[in-house]
Amino acid sequence: MARSPRVLILNGPNLNLLGTREPEIYGATTLADIEASCQERAGELGLEVDCRQSNSEGQLVDWIQESRERHEAIIINPGAYSHTSIAILDALQAAGLPVIEVHLSNIHQREAFRHWSYVSQAATGVICGFGADGYGLALDAAARLLNAGRSG
Ligand code: DQA
Repeated sequence: MARSPRVLILNGPNLNLLGTREPEIYGATTLADIEASCQERAGELGLEVDCRQSNSEGQLVDWIQESRERHEAIIINPGAYSHTSIAILDALQAAGLPVIEVHLSNIHQREAFRHWSYVSQAATGVICGFGADGYGLALDAAARLLNAGRSG
């Protein structure tokens, strides 16, 4: 039997602080809780997930480059790098995989500098404003995209 499709779930800078970081904006759920829910949801969807977090732009670029060989889709919350990083955009475009961009907060209701995301240029779709639930929604979207790719 073919192996389950693998999804890389990447979280960028300061997302390791979830739970204690501005909970009025980002909620009380920790990154460990989010990753555990993603593992559970992925199992239900027949996916495997590989969850990683880094505060470093270069590390995120390295993981995206490696994903070309190892994963079938990428879910990424690039944190503040969404708004600044052409390097992450380029890496995602080079990876050539479906990309789902996630933000816990609704970035369009916040400061003007958060309204633009370089990463959105490489994203198949963007989920924002649903808090920690956004990751589960992104996994559902990834499963649909990968299933459509397999049957079509
Ligand atoms: C964020 C939104 C970004 O603007 C911010 O820099 C973050 C988190 C979110 O998940 O809402 O670090 O990506």
